[in-house]
Amino acid sequence: MIILSIESSCDETAAALTQDGRRVLSSVIHSQVDIHTLYGGVVPELASRSHIQAVSRLAALALQEAGLSRREIDAVAVTYAPGLIGAVLVGVGFAKGAALSLGVPLIPVHHIRGHIAANYIAHPDLEPPFVCLVASGGTSMIVEVQDYTRMTVLGSTRDDAAGECFDKAARVLGIGYPGGAQIDSLSRSGDPEKYRLPQSHVTGNPYDMSFSGLKTAVVNLAHTAKQRGEELDLPSLAAAICRAVSDTLLSRALLAAEERGYGKLAIAGGVSANTLLRADLEAACARSGLKAYCAPLSLCGDNAAMIGCQGYYEFLAGVRGDSSLNAYATMSPDSAFIRW
Ligand code: KG4
Repeated sequence: MIILSIESSCDETAAALTQDGRRVLSSVIHSQVDIHTLYGGVVPELASRSHIQAVSRLAALALQEAGLSRREIDAVAVTYAPGLIGAVLVGVGFAKGAALSLGVPLIPVHHIRGHIAANYIAHPDLEPPFVCLVASGGTSMIVEVQDYTRMTVLGSTRDDAAGECFDKAARVLGIGYPGGAQIDSLSRSGDPEKYRLPQSHVTGNPYDMSFSGLKTAVVNLAHTAKQRGEELDLPSLAAAICRAVSDTLLSRALLAAEERGYGKLAIAGGVSANTLLRADLEAACARSGLKAYCAPLSLCGDNAAMIGCQGYYEFLAGVRGDSSLNAYATMSPDSAFIRW
């Protein structure tokens, strides 16, 4: 089954063609980094406009790269939640039109479920159940993936997402945008012991986490250094941020994987590209006898191949959209899915 998939939830417009879920025939991405760099963060209205300008061209390019014609598309999958509402609407509108004009089913896909599915593309042997840590710019959560379309959020951030913490820290430190990748590369020459940064301890749910304290600590360090006219050792501060984020995320994920007893722990989302997090995952899983899964960097950030992959499993589970499909800014990945 060949699926044309569309992703437009934030600042990347993406289209892909996938076959039977895990085989990627083509995957194209148009990044808006150049536009948003000017403002140090994503400007929602500009993101929506850029998606409108790019989406048809990208779908055509994906078809061309796959060497397929429109008639060979069996279904259209699209991210319908969560994300910047104007941005998600662009993809949903395009996908509805494409499915209607091609006379094929429309499959709504939850963005976080798509991130988790990036691991299916990367690892042909991976099948649910497993535990997945999802960390991106908009969310950080521990998900129990019981089945391809049945999952439970075990815990999540009580405030900021890990990616948001990276991005904000990079902005106040003048490192640039998007922050996560820049902090990651700076951190490689730093000493993670030089700065002491706080790690969250939340009460109630052992899988919940918090990143606002870490973000505030970095902001305060930057302001204090400026007032005193001191230079910060940016590589070492970057290394300390990566250490704090990795420890916070992985301690919860490991606890969940061990308690659930599935023996498999995956990571997903833009932050799963982080060098230290990936190394820590491998080391911790080796120590605990768990099998570690992470996708190649090209599949960690937003892309449409992951939406096509998850779309396939949603289709098999009977999920369908129609012309009344809406876009949603917020939605938990474990909420009941739509069937028609
Ligand atoms: O999954 P994603 O591409 O978009 C969302 O769905 O949010 O995640 C983007 C986030 C940004 O906050 C970005 O700074 C972060 O992922 N990120 C990283 C790295 N690469 C991207 N964070 C840490 N280390 C990286 N190498």
